[in-house]
Amino acid sequence: MSRLIVISNRVQAPTEESGAQGGLAVALTAALRSTGGVWFGWSGEVGETTEPRFATYDGVTSATVDLPEQDVEEYYDGYANRTLWPLFHYRLGLTEFERDFEGGYERVNRVFSDVIAPHIQPQDLVWVHDYHMIPLGWFLRQHGLTNRLGFFLHIPWPPTRLLTALPQHRRLVEALFAYDVVGFQTQEWLETFHDYVVREMGGCIGEDGEITVGGRTIRAIACPIGIDAQEFIANAFGPEASSAFDRMVTSSAGRSLIVGVDRLDYSKGLEERFNGYQRYLETHANAHSNVYLLQIAPPSRASVQSYRDIREKLDAMSGRINGAFADVDWVPLRYVNQGFPRTMLAGIYRAARVGLVTPLRDGMNLVAKEFIAAQDPEDPGVLILSRFAGAAEQLQEAIIVNPYSPDEIADAIARALSMSLDERKARWNPMFEGIVRNDVNWWTDKFCDALAAD
Ligand code: G6P
Repeated sequence: MSRLIVISNRVQAPTEESGAQGGLAVALTAALRSTGGVWFGWSGEVGETTEPRFATYDGVTSATVDLPEQDVEEYYDGYANRTLWPLFHYRLGLTEFERDFEGGYERVNRVFSDVIAPHIQPQDLVWVHDYHMIPLGWFLRQHGLTNRLGFFLHIPWPPTRLLTALPQHRRLVEALFAYDVVGFQTQEWLETFHDYVVREMGGCIGEDGEITVGGRTIRAIACPIGIDAQEFIANAFGPEASSAFDRMVTSSAGRSLIVGVDRLDYSKGLEERFNGYQRYLETHANAHSNVYLLQIAPPSRASVQSYRDIREKLDAMSGRINGAFADVDWVPLRYVNQGFPRTMLAGIYRAARVGLVTPLRDGMNLVAKEFIAAQDPEDPGVLILSRFAGAAEQLQEAIIVNPYSPDEIADAIARALSMSLDERKARWNPMFEGIVRNDVNWWTDKFCDALAAD
């Protein structure tokens, strides 16, 4: 079996200190362990040396490099988080176009390729992840690498008419043609990619995902990421989750819990969600004090202004909602700016009657899948899911909403809270089966099989 080399901005390989890992890390480390591979990426630290630091723990080797301050500003804070992230989430108004950002992005990708190329052996399969690293494959080819190279985009692929607002859009997409396989989360993003290739590059879409531009043919596939379903379910009924469940049941005091868990990001639709919840409270006065929303939102990318803005806005909104509706013995909204371990979240999900997952745009959204996985099969809660989350392509039995509409969110909450047990089970069962079937191992295998196939 070929060695797998994983490259991503963040490295989540296990270390002696790291506690519970996310599903992606669990799957990738399993594949790395079984093939004796290496996970390369940024250490998250600022520093001047680009010598990689190798560490092997629990059979998995990671190699990380530091980045100078200017690179962090231009590559990570800049091009990745102030240019590509908003643009790829359809937020042209928040997108910043700076030559310095673009320069930093190319520089870091080039440096990464210089650092990594000498460690790649001829038979290795190389799998690059996400928007931070789009040109990396192209730079690796400049080192003469003829390995099979794959790229997976974890976020949406934007419509052609939005992408062309990026001054170097063509250069960015051309870089993708250095890979052999390019993966997207959904059929929709794959189709928008096809659209760009046909319209802007005069490319041809062939059989079985083949795309030809000029003389070069690559494969582009839809390959939705899953969760580590078996492990998550086992943990969801383990001691840590059970004590979180008990804690929520006690503190809910008979009230129905609606839960949302999101990184504090403008793409998650938190402002719109609060508006929708407020509309529910305004139109269902008899439900007051029988229900509450717990919104967990750990802050993220705080060096970027748009993230500080959304945080401030949500602080004010949560204060206003509680000020307007709270009673002496009831608070309608518990807004919590800290993160919790996934096992604890599993217990919270199980205690909830409703999971509210309403991003304005999301590559996939694994909270939706974890919410389903954590439910009690005999008494499952109801998932309310944005039609603009990649997960909506698979989780069609959720209550699907337009997250921009406060009325739709309010109606969906009312409907979810009054849903019969039979209907809840009938909706939950097929979603649960799909999550178990198409889990993160299925995803890793599907992508790696495509990558290995010549
Ligand atoms: C999204 C991206 C990931 C990223 C994560 C957290 O899920 O697809 O690549 O790692 O957000 O963002 P951060 O900037 O903290 O890595």
